[in-house]
Amino acid sequence: MKIAIGNDHAAPELKLAVLEHLKERGIEYIDLGCGVGERCDYPDKAKEVCEKVTSGECELGILICGTGVGMSIAANKIKGIRAACCSDYFSARLTREHNNANVLCFGERVVGVGTALDLVDVFIDTPYSNAERHQKRVDLITALEG
Ligand code: RB5
Repeated sequence: MKIAIGNDHAAPELKLAVLEHLKERGIEYIDLGCGVGERCDYPDKAKEVCEKVTSGECELGILICGTGVGMSIAANKIKGIRAACCSDYFSARLTREHNNANVLCFGERVVGVGTALDLVDVFIDTPYSNAERHQKRVDLITALEG
C-alpha cells in the first residue's frame, strides 16, 4: 500500500510525526506537503494528494491542516474522493467500513500526536465492508458528483 500525504503551513510538525510512523510500519508514502517554515494553501495540497489517489498511484490519502476541515472541504470537491475529517477513532474506523473513505483529514490544532497516529492506523487497517447497503449509499454519493 502507498499513501499520499499533504499538509499546509499549520501542520508540518504533525505531518513529520505521521511520516515517521509510516516509516516504522514499513508503509510507502509520497510526501506532497509543505515543510517547516514554508507556506502553502491547503486547497492546492488537497488537489495534489487527491490526484495521487484518483490516478491509482496511491491507495489512500492523508491531509493535515490546522483543523482538517479546509482540507476535507477541498478534497471532497474532487471527483472520486471521499474525504473524512476525523478527530476520533470510531469515526475513522466507520468511515472506512461504511463510506469507503479514501482520504483522511485531521488538524494539528485539534488532535495530539497520539490520537493522530491512532487515526492513521485505524484508517489504514480497516477495510471497506462491501456490504450491499453501504455500497448502495456510496453509489448514491458518487451520483451526486454529476
Ligand atoms: C491556515 O491558517 C488554516 O486556515 C488551515 O490550516 C486550516 O485550518 C483550514 O481549514
